[in-house]
Amino acid sequence: MSFLFTFVFGSVCLAQQSGKFRPGQLWPDDNGVHINAHGGGMLLYEGTYYWFGEHKVAGEIGNTAQVGVHCYSSKDLYNWVDRGIALAVSDEGDIQKGCILERPKVIYNARTKKFVMWFHLELKGKGYSSARAGIAVADEVTGPYRFIRSTRATPGQYPVNVSDSACTADQLFIRDLAGGQMVRDQQLFVDDDGKAYHIFASEENQTLHIAELTDDYLDYTGKYVRAFEGRYMEAPAIFKKDGLYYFMGSGCTGWAPNAARSAVAPSIWGPWTELGNPCVGRDAEKTFFSQSTYILPVPGEKDKFIYMGDRWTPSNPIDGRYIWLPIRFEGRKFKIEWVDEWGLDDF
Ligand code: DGJ
Repeated sequence: MSFLFTFVFGSVCLAQQSGKFRPGQLWPDDNGVHINAHGGGMLLYEGTYYWFGEHKVAGEIGNTAQVGVHCYSSKDLYNWVDRGIALAVSDEGDIQKGCILERPKVIYNARTKKFVMWFHLELKGKGYSSARAGIAVADEVTGPYRFIRSTRATPGQYPVNVSDSACTADQLFIRDLAGGQMVRDQQLFVDDDGKAYHIFASEENQTLHIAELTDDYLDYTGKYVRAFEGRYMEAPAIFKKDGLYYFMGSGCTGWAPNAARSAVAPSIWGPWTELGNPCVGRDAEKTFFSQSTYILPVPGEKDKFIYMGDRWTPSNPIDGRYIWLPIRFEGRKFKIEWVDEWGLDDF
């Protein structure tokens, strides 16, 4: 009886989180269960937020995809309703159970009226060597998403920011030209004109690529740039403010946290100017023990952006916590400071 009381009472307490973010704490959904949407992204559709992320399970096996992509919805960003599995792993094929399916992102295509999901896919049993993009589509925002195909990026295409004379055979993007460029940590960005871009760690994680998507968001147009050459950036996130494009990412240290990176550019194509680690204060050099996954613009609020990061727990991935923090601007730079508890009015 007392156990039952503690359990029920505990759930009720946690569920009353409404109105505050508590980075690093358990974050219960409407069932009182810690949200399971790691490496996630956000879609605002018809006044509701949809949070898509990796559904993790307990134990080290949880670093592989055992279930699929989980979806939650919210009207206020604090309280989340479990909307179930949006994309399920399959019994066979590219997204079979046991593959690695990371950092899913969903965007809405107003022309086709389809919801389009891209994710980083590693075929089952091949470690991180496949380095592919997975694409899935749905008629309803919460799914079910239908897996279409997986692919390497922009096969046969040269980056538009490298001249032929500067290409040498030992460069990794030349090595991968025919079969397509590697895709690992990834992000989608939709610009004000409706054009969408795929941003991903490529070339064995050495260099990011930014590739334009076709009008239906289901393929590459073939136009892309190489960015941050040789800088080993992961966890890319992009947002736009006052006509400038901002980037946040991390270094490459597996599941272990490192110092975040930031950059600004006048165009999605660059040139990108690095602005250093945007995090300040205690544990800033470890990004507060997190890694970026998305930057969320608060709608109707010109200067409010939320840093969304993951605090990975690779020995028990289901326990991974979410680090959401307000982004503040200082001139052309942005910065992120730790806050134990905050709300949208506290920017
Ligand atoms: C860091 C990446 O950001 C994660 O998505 C994941 O791929 C891990 N590395 C794997 O070590």
